[in-house]
Order: sequence, then C-alpha cells, then structure tokens
Amino acid sequence: MSVVVGVSGGIAAYKAVAVVRGLVRRGHDVHVIPTEAALRFVGAPTWEATSRNSVHTSVFDDVAEVRHVALGQRADLIVVAPATAHTLAKIAHGLSDDLLGTTILASTAPLVVAPAMHTEMWRNPATVANVELLRSRGVTVVGPDDGQLTGGDVGPGRLSEPDDIVAVALARVAEPATVSGSPAGVPGGPDQEARVGDLQGLRLVVSVGGTREPLDPVRFIGNRSSGHQGASLALGAARRGARVTVVAAALDGAVRQTLDSDARIEVVDVSTALDLETAMAERAPEADVVVMAAAVADYRPATVADGKIRKDDSGDEMTVRLVRTPDVLAGLVARRPAGQVVVGFAAETAGDRAELLSLGRAKQRRKGADLLVLNSVGWTTGFGSDDTAVVVIDVHGDVVSEAEGSKAAVSETVLDALAFRLAARREPGGGSSAPTLTDESTEAGA
Ligand code: CTP
Repeated sequence: MSVVVGVSGGIAAYKAVAVVRGLVRRGHDVHVIPTEAALRFVGAPTWEATSRNSVHTSVFDDVAEVRHVALGQRADLIVVAPATAHTLAKIAHGLSDDLLGTTILASTAPLVVAPAMHTEMWRNPATVANVELLRSRGVTVVGPDDGQLTGGDVGPGRLSEPDDIVAVALARVAEPATVSGSPAGVPGGPDQEARVGDLQGLRLVVSVGGTREPLDPVRFIGNRSSGHQGASLALGAARRGARVTVVAAALDGAVRQTLDSDARIEVVDVSTALDLETAMAERAPEADVVVMAAAVADYRPATVADGKIRKDDSGDEMTVRLVRTPDVLAGLVARRPAGQVVVGFAAETAGDRAELLSLGRAKQRRKGADLLVLNSVGWTTGFGSDDTAVVVIDVHGDVVSEAEGSKAAVSETVLDALAFRLAARREPGGGSSAPTLTDESTEAGA
C-alpha cells in the first residue's frame, strides 16, 4: 500500500520516525513529506533512510513529474504526524502552499492526523473548531495523549504513541467508513451497503443488558445498562448476514421490542450472572463469534430470602453479604474452540483517553479477549445515553480502531474490526493492506 506520511514542525517530529519505520516494517511503500519547519527538527536524510524513498518538501521540486499532485493521487492512506495547530488549520481550510498541502488536496485517500501541541493551543477555540471540521469530513484524529510536554508542562497535547498511530491508521484503511466518528456507518445508512454480507453465515452469540442479583422476591442488585449498545451490535451483525443469538439480561423495553421485531435474531432471556454464564456456556461452543456486551454483576447476595425482607426483621441498619460471581468472559476465552473470536467490553470511569487505555490494557491482560471495546462510563455518560465513544484494542493491547457517535454508528466500527479480524483468521498471511495484523491475530489465537 502507498502511504504518505506528512510531518509538520513540532518537537514530536522525532517520534514520527517510529511511525515511518512501523509502516515500512509492515511492507508499505512510504513517502514522507515534511514541512519546511519539520526539517528544522529532523533532517531529510533521516526521512529518506527510514522510508527508503526520496523526500521533497517543495512543489517546485521535479516539476516535470507533477509531484504536487502525483503523490496524493497514488496514496492509499495519508497520515500526518505530528499535526501542529498550524497544519491542522491549513488542512481544515484547504490551504496548499507547500507539497504536503497540495498532496492532501489532490488525494481521496483516508486521512489520519495525530495532533501534538501545547495544551492551551489544543484547547483554543480555533483549534477545537478546526478539529471538529476535520472530523465532520471523516478525517480520523488520533490523540493527542495526556502527559509531559516540552518545557515541563503537563496536559493533553502529547503526540500519541507511534504504534497506536500506525494501528489506527491501518485500521482506518481496513474500515474506511466509521473510524473516529465519521457520521457514516449508521446501520441502514448508505455506506452500510458495502458491508452487507461480510458476516454472512457466521453464528454470533451476544450477551446484552445488565444482570440482576435478587435479594428477595421483590428486590435485586442491578446496574444501569440499558442493553442499547449490545442490541445495536446484534442488529448490525444480523444485517451483515450473521445468525445472531442474543442472551438478554433485563433489557430496556424499547430495546427489547427492536430485537423482537427482527426475525433474524433469537432472544434468550436470563436474569442473574449465573443464568447468563449457563446460557452463554450452552451456546458458545457452536458460535464463530462470542460478544460479551452485557454488564455482569461481579458480586451477588450470598443468600436470597424466600419471602420479602421486612424492616421489622432488620431494624435501622442492614448488612448484605455478597459473594463473587464467575468471570464469564474469561471463562469463555479459556474454553473457546479453535478459530472462535471472542469480543469483550470494558466499562471504565476514566478521566481521559490515556487512563482509559491503561485501565483497558490491564483488563485485557486479565481477560484475554481477541478484541476489547473500551468505553468511558460515568454519571452522565455511557449507560443510558445514546452517544458513546470507544477505543478497540486487540489481544496485545494495541489500538485497532476508535469511534465516537451514536451507539448504532459505533457498533458498525466494532463490527468492522470484527470482520477484519475474522478475515485475517481465514486467510493467514493473506490480505495486502495489513499483513502484520494478520500475523498478530494468528498468534493471538495460538
Ligand atoms: N464480565 C463477565 N463476567 C463478570 C464481569 C464482567 O463476563 N462477572 C465481562 C463483561 O461482559 C465485559 C468484561 O467482562 O465484557 C468487562 O466487564 P467490566 O464490568 O468492565 O469489568 P469487570 O470484569 O467487572 O472488572 P472491574 O469491575 O474490576 O472493572
């Protein structure tokens, strides 16, 4: 694949060397276009040595080759890392006073930008508006991360890790429509046409909703999951041709109705974590894909009263002893048949993306799912709200995809990542656009 890496003038330019190397190592033909300012941080020989291609910055180099549009026309993917506030503004407004600007304008390839700048510049309303504009046009924005910046400042503005940039960029090519908040990708939307059938004939078992652990015949300990996200996944998978079984725990009424009205989906009702474990264990062995989207209770009351617990029996205080429930996802991973893909979710009350990733990676080490979908939850985000933002990581903890938007749109991104993973498993060593992902997924299954 032909990849253009644009480098703009910030101290983080030195980290872009690792982005170029990561792409070259994966077999891609990489053309680096540094801006004049970028060359003050890292010189052309370094870019030429790492990319193994000649490097130009001016539209007046090799005019006969029409270089100012040729690279853009040929590119399958453009990555700009670091993208300074100035370069983001230029891209957002279509300015083309250098080779990077003309290349981007002349290209229809997916564009991924990795911003890096001081926190104040990142939060400036001008930058915020430019980033919004880019996102609304389907540009994927990776980061920035939160951390130490030049001059001792700390905050959001740090260039994302090179491996994350490479992974998100390659996933963007594999999943062109919905990564990082493109408005396309709503089930039934125009881009959906292209993906109908990519899960044809596969069997999916999806747990959805939130379990309820009874205290007595009228009370339970539960959680705020509506089942909306898992149901969107189930509906999207059915639309792509999969045979879907939903193991449903206490779904919101409207969500339940939507699932019931789709003849391609079988719904099995469960209530407690133990019920859910049994239902999943019965169905998982026959499945090609298992998705644990349900919010499963980690503890249940040690005893359940036969009759209603009365205040007269307990007085002013009451203690409930809780015991651990099994980790259903970890059990499914441990017992999965060869070739099955297991997808988990991780709901975290994280302050920012960096914390979400660090909590998610730790959880991934405990669970071992092929894909783990990380999302932030809080009093006002996640459960119950229609909009969400997710980061999808693989078994190694590498970011393979990101999306934000409606739960339906985000589901499509997760299903794209799943379809890509399944395709990689079916064709070990195959797939020209992301050979390394193929290799990694094979290792992951071993
Ligand atoms: N999960 C599970 N069994 C449990 C708890 C969770 O299978 N007893 C699954 C969920 O369906 C989800 C993943 O594990 O796919 C992560 O769930 P989450 O609630 O984020 O994490 P926990 O495992 O509960 O860990 P913690 O409470 O420490 O965050």
